[in-house]
Amino acid sequence: MLSLLLHLEGIESVVLETHDREYIERRVRAGVLEQSTVDLLCAMGAGDRLEREGLVHSGIGVRFGGLPHRIDFDALTGGRAITIYGQQEVVKDLLAARSEAVVFNATAVSVDAGEPSVRYTSDGEERELRADFVAGCDGFHGPSRAAVPGTSFEHVYPIGWLGILAGVAPSVDEVTYCHHERGFALHSMRSPTVSRLYLQCAPDEDIAAWSDDRIWDELRTRMRVPGWSLRDGPILERGVVGMHSFVHEPMQNERVFLAGDAAHIVPATGAKGMNLAVADARVLADAIAHWYRTGDDSRLRGYTDACLPRVWRAQRFSSWMTSTLHTDGDPFRFRVQRAELDYVFSSNAAATALAENYVGLRDG
Ligand code: DHB
Repeated sequence: MLSLLLHLEGIESVVLETHDREYIERRVRAGVLEQSTVDLLCAMGAGDRLEREGLVHSGIGVRFGGLPHRIDFDALTGGRAITIYGQQEVVKDLLAARSEAVVFNATAVSVDAGEPSVRYTSDGEERELRADFVAGCDGFHGPSRAAVPGTSFEHVYPIGWLGILAGVAPSVDEVTYCHHERGFALHSMRSPTVSRLYLQCAPDEDIAAWSDDRIWDELRTRMRVPGWSLRDGPILERGVVGMHSFVHEPMQNERVFLAGDAAHIVPATGAKGMNLAVADARVLADAIAHWYRTGDDSRLRGYTDACLPRVWRAQRFSSWMTSTLHTDGDPFRFRVQRAELDYVFSSNAAATALAENYVGLRDG
C-alpha cells in the first residue's frame, strides 16, 4: 500500500508480500470505505473500478426490539457517505496499479531499524533488502513490530463472528446491524448479486456445526422485523473471526514505521480496519516524500503523534459498536444496550455521534 502511494512521487520502493497473488486477491475481508479512503485511492489512480462498481450508501440500518431504524448520514453529516467495495477488490486494484514492485511469496523474517533492512526468504533462499525506510505494513503477526520497542495495549472480546459470502441479492438496501437476545447479526453486501452476512458466535466456534440451513435460520431469527424477509442462496465462503483491540505505541523506531494492523487492530464492528491502514499510509507517504524533497525530517518524527489520536478515536468507536450490539446473556446488560440504542434514535446528538464516526472523523 505505502509503496504504491510513494510510486506517485517517483520514489523507488519494493513490496514484500508473504502470500501469492491469488491468495491475497481472494482473501475476503470487510468492505466499508470511508470517503477519505475512496478519495486517496482515486487520487493515486487506483479508483476507476471503485468509482464504477462501489456501492455508495448514505445511511445504515440498525434493528433492535424487532423494529428497523436508520442512521441518515446525508442529514446528520452534511452529505457524507460510505462506499461498499470489498477489501480484496482494493488489493486487486492496487496490484494492477503497480504489480512490478511486488515480490510475492517473500516471507519477512526480521526487520532491523538501525541500518534499515529486512531479512526475508524467497524461493527457499534467505535474502536481505536495504532501504532508506522500512514501512512495516505486515499485519498483526508480522515481524516488524519487534523492531519497534514500546508498549502494547490490548483487549480480547469473548466473542467471534461467523461470516458468510452468499451468491444472492442483498435483502437490505444498506448495511444493517441487528441487536437480538440470541446475539448480534449483520447484513452487508458486495454487489447487487452478492451478500455478506455475519452472526455473533463464540471466538472458537466450530464452523462444522453450522449447516447452511442453520446459518440462514439463525440470520432470519436475529434479523426479523415485520414485513421483511431474508433471501437465501449458495454460500460461497465461510469463516470465523475473533474480536480483538490492540494498539502499539509508538508506531516507529528510527527508520522503521508501522502502519495498519502491524500497529493496531480494531474489532470488526464498524469496519474501521482498512480505513485506518490507508490513513496511516497516507501520513507516512507524505512524510517520506517530504523528506526526499526537502531533507526535513519533522514529519517523519511526528508520524506516531499524527496517527495515534485517530487510531484511538477508531478504537473508541469500534469498542462502543461492539459492546452496544453484542449480547452476553446478561439480562441487565441487554436492557442497558436497549436503552443506549433507544437513546441513539431519540437524540439528534447521539445519532450524529454515530454517523460522524461511521463515515470517518477527519484527522486533526
Ligand atoms: C462489513 C464488515 C463490518 O465489520 C461492518 O461493520 C460492516 C460491513 C462488511 O464486510 O461488509
